Amino acid sequence: MNGVNEIRSAFLDYFRKNGHEILPSSPLVPRNDPTLMFTNAGMVQFKNLFTGNEKRPYTRAATAQKCVRAGGKHNDLDNVGYTARHHTFFEMLGNFSFGDYFKPLAIELAWKLITQEFGLQKDRLLVTVYYDDDEAYDLWKKIAGFSDSKIIRIATSDNFWAMGDAGPCGPCSEIFFDQGDKLQGGPPGSADEDGDRFLEFWNLVFMQFEQVGPGDRIVLPRPSIDTGMGLERIAALMQGVTSNYDIDLMRALILAVAAATGVDPDGPQKASHRVIADHLRASAFLVADGVTPSTEGRGYVLRRIMRRAMRHAQLLGAREPLIWRLVPALADEMGHAYPELLRAEALIVETLRLEETRFRETLARGLSILDETTRDLPQGGALPGHVAFKLYDTYGFPLDLTQDALRARGLGVDVEGFRAAMERQRVEARKAWAGSGEAATETVWFAVKEKTGATDFLGYDTERAEGVVMAILKNGQEVECLRAGESGSVILNQTPFYGESGGQVGDTGVMQAAGARFRVVNTQKKLGDLFVHEGSVEQGEIRLGLPLSLAVDHFRRAAVRANHSATHLLHEALRQVLGDHVAQKGSLVAPDRLRFDFAHPKPIIADELTRVEEIANRAVLENAPVTTRLMAVDEAIGAGARALFGEKYGDEVRVVSMGYAQTADEALAAEGQPFSTELCGGTHVARTGDIGLITIVSETAVAAGVRRIEAKTAAEARRHLNAQAQRLHDLATLLKTPEEDAAKRLASLIEERRKLERELSEARKKLAMGGEGVEQPLQDIGGVKFLGRAVSGIDMKDLKSLADEAKQSVGSGVVAIAGVGADGKAGVVVGVTPDLTERFDAVQLVRVAAAKLGGKGGGGRRDLAQAGGPDGAGVESALAAVCDALRETTAAA
Ligand code: ALA
Repeated sequence: MNGVNEIRSAFLDYFRKNGHEILPSSPLVPRNDPTLMFTNAGMVQFKNLFTGNEKRPYTRAATAQKCVRAGGKHNDLDNVGYTARHHTFFEMLGNFSFGDYFKPLAIELAWKLITQEFGLQKDRLLVTVYYDDDEAYDLWKKIAGFSDSKIIRIATSDNFWAMGDAGPCGPCSEIFFDQGDKLQGGPPGSADEDGDRFLEFWNLVFMQFEQVGPGDRIVLPRPSIDTGMGLERIAALMQGVTSNYDIDLMRALILAVAAATGVDPDGPQKASHRVIADHLRASAFLVADGVTPSTEGRGYVLRRIMRRAMRHAQLLGAREPLIWRLVPALADEMGHAYPELLRAEALIVETLRLEETRFRETLARGLSILDETTRDLPQGGALPGHVAFKLYDTYGFPLDLTQDALRARGLGVDVEGFRAAMERQRVEARKAWAGSGEAATETVWFAVKEKTGATDFLGYDTERAEGVVMAILKNGQEVECLRAGESGSVILNQTPFYGESGGQVGDTGVMQAAGARFRVVNTQKKLGDLFVHEGSVEQGEIRLGLPLSLAVDHFRRAAVRANHSATHLLHEALRQVLGDHVAQKGSLVAPDRLRFDFAHPKPIIADELTRVEEIANRAVLENAPVTTRLMAVDEAIGAGARALFGEKYGDEVRVVSMGYAQTADEALAAEGQPFSTELCGGTHVARTGDIGLITIVSETAVAAGVRRIEAKTAAEARRHLNAQAQRLHDLATLLKTPEEDAAKRLASLIEERRKLERELSEARKKLAMGGEGVEQPLQDIGGVKFLGRAVSGIDMKDLKSLADEAKQSVGSGVVAIAGVGADGKAGVVVGVTPDLTERFDAVQLVRVAAAKLGGKGGGGRRDLAQAGGPDGAGVESALAAVCDALRETTAAA
């Protein structure tokens, strides 16, 4: 029982037997603590239980927790690989009591575990206690039977544990193992305590306080217990090795490095093997928890770790990217205990490969600059800061990588000079930006971002988190505080709220702290990665520095996710049905609908639309997983990912794939390709089935060659279809027919109505011609026949056919029909038989008539023209006016 995996299980089993709830490790990016960069101890996920802000059904728990300590208070990246026990990533085994047991049982449980279950030799063990903690001192004496010399009182912060600048804390008692005089070093508290001989492997913290501000501590509601045992350390003790790097798990990784490079793992380059083994774990677990390499914040720490490993791979002579090839070995060792590693394996592999490919492009050049500039430096000399900055800025060498590279040669770096160069560049960049003429309104965001840095977006994995207020804006000005009833914008260090981009609307939700609540009505993204929460304070006040619990409106976000994924499916379905020319021109992804604009030269016929809907819904029903990877843009597009033409993407892009190739032919041709692959920064469903249903609600034109479809999904689709069904139902009831016959019934009603209209108009015409109309006698005006007729009660549209008939009957001549329609308005039509159109223009004549009807203008052709006017009393004079006009023309001729 002494492999790492067995020790981990034995620890958890032991505490399970002792009434502890066994919980999974929380993610490395703390969801519930905005003050921490990474989860650095087992107690982080329980912080709110210790402070009493949260209650759970259990009061005892135990975990194996993934931890990262990379820089800052708890670790120095620089040492990792060169010492026996420094790591960036490690596992912490811990048992916790939330106001349940305290010192006596904590010490007893620990003692029994290490001596009885783990079989450590009692006489090799010794402990420390906080200098004034007599209670712990006496308990150790009683429970372990230690002599005074084995219980060492320590007055320094070494025996007062705190999570960070804020959070639960308390005095602690550390358990040490004496590895014997083959190793250098003295017991804790002695001058050479830093040696390796006495190994601290378990820390029992007696949680009694909460640090709420600098120098400001309050007492916890109930004393609690938090312990942390370094898994790698206890494994080393149980396996009888003096370095964490010699335990089975780390050795397996180191052998994988040796196999991949052919370099002796125990030779002069053993530190490089160790650096790689350690950094592989940190990188893989960070990527699995959603961190991606970048130039700021968590992403930058990840990049530093990755690049440090990559330089060591290069030192080992690797000619090709190497680290990604080690991922399967890690998955073998740790995938069982941490299934997230297996789930994210593809993402980890690709992220590592991409980063190393990139880095290699500049590594050799950067290293040769480093060689040139340091060639003449004496031992103990320092590389000028501006060179270190150039390596950083142009060649992607994090400062610690440069330091690491020089360390072997006994050289350092002028860190002050490095910082000064960095500051100079920042000022330049700002000047350049200010002069670039970009919207002046954005200036304020630039100032904010300079102060706060980019916002860490957590919303791909979670809808809830905590964040600290970094900046507040009211009416475009930075302020310290927003009070109840005031509106403004809040910027946090991290957020689960999606900022509007890529067509997807911004999230809404709530942020709150004790007595304070801010309602988020929209989230915008400024300058690429500054997330701005817009809304108003409903209660209390929101101040700078305030930690807030954040919750995105879940149902709204879920609907947006479904619509976004549906947009991808429709895009591909459209391409399959209409052809490869279908390129996205724009989109809107809202909670209630989606809109997709794309290039296509003509309307889409109903049958095509049905097929598009059919194909997209088939992908929904397959309930296939949706996966996200990070890739270089060119690589992604090379692999067939659809990108928005003309869109600016960063160097690295998220690539979202979903569904399976559909028909058997496609499946063969596509060799396991997903149904859809797109570059996309949006949020998506976990499986296509979560979309529920896609229904296209309209297809229209937006511009020449650009069509738009609108669609709905899930609950909105169902509502839309229900409303349609209701309308059909109402229709059928009105028509007094079963729903399936409604269309036929309506068609026959329409046909019937047409027939009736025809009959009615015939009857009216007859009536107009035969009786009521005033028919003027056929006149001869200067040898031209003129027929003028006033009619009434007739549709204006029928005037024309009357005029045609009149033309027929006169054979050669000019006719004018005028009348008042059912709406009281007057109309007139003038017709000229074909033989006379050279001499008379119906359009001119009808204009003369229209003037008498109070109308203007008139239109038509030389042989038939029509006009109207408001004045029904002018019908007779309109006819007379045509007559006069004819007379004038013929007389003049
Ligand atoms: N939280 C304590 C530590 O990290 C146990 O050492």
